Amino acid sequence: MRHSGYVIEALQLPLKERAAKGMTRIVVLSGAGLSAESGLGTFRDKGGVWTQYDLAEVATPEGFAADPAKVMAFYNARRANMVEATPNVAHQALARLKQTWQDDVLIVTQNIDDLLERAGTHDVVHMHGELSQALCARCGHRWTAPLVMDVRDQCPSCGAMATRPDVVWFGEIPYHMERIIAALQVCETFVSIGTSGTVYPAAGFVAEAKEAGARTIELNLEVTQPGHMFEDQVQGPATQIVPKWVEDVLSQT
Ligand code: APR
Repeated sequence: MRHSGYVIEALQLPLKERAAKGMTRIVVLSGAGLSAESGLGTFRDKGGVWTQYDLAEVATPEGFAADPAKVMAFYNARRANMVEATPNVAHQALARLKQTWQDDVLIVTQNIDDLLERAGTHDVVHMHGELSQALCARCGHRWTAPLVMDVRDQCPSCGAMATRPDVVWFGEIPYHMERIIAALQVCETFVSIGTSGTVYPAAGFVAEAKEAGARTIELNLEVTQPGHMFEDQVQGPATQIVPKWVEDVLSQT
């Protein structure tokens, strides 16, 4: 457990001041398993997205360069699924936690869907980007993506026909890493929800949190390959184990 002096000092600071010092108490990392029961597919489970598509073709800069229309179609299909999906009770539980704990909890997700936001969660840290955003590869401008993106779309800012989904592809640098690492280095608890823990840098967060003395908890449908890194592991569907964990946390405060 973190040296108690730190925790006592941190807890004596007003919430805003704690956050200003990056003193986040809980860091949550979620993956595709959080949205699975909302009907959005996971990647590596049986029948997962990467069993239907070659990730090299649709989730790398090289794949986009080779066939941008195929990549646009891939994300257009996922955006259509996202719009059809509704947040589940696990998303709603995390929204309650964020609304109650505000800056004392950092909600990081690898997911590119907007179900956490639609459940009422603010300040979601999308380290792999967002399906709802478009990005201009020429000038870096970002805007709300149309439901159907086309390679001929022009950037609303610079006019270049260089738009792409604002999604982090394999080989690219995830977003918000500085903020995430700073929070992991001071948090008391790190909770991983519905991720196989196989893709870095997210897969390395548990080691970072342990290094900082945080308690580590894995909430997942099944035992994962890196599960042994966690102090506590709870198995079950996210819609059952996430609300239970959140209620436990909220009942202690
Ligand atoms: N409840 C809880 N966990 C679940 C559920 C569920 N209903 N269904 C599946 N899971 C778990 C699986 O056991 C698995 O551990 O969710 C995890 C899904 O793992 P992946 O399919 O690998 O998805 P994820 O970990 O989010 O992938 C990470 O890889 O392809 C890239 O950018 C993509 O963000 C993604 C990253």
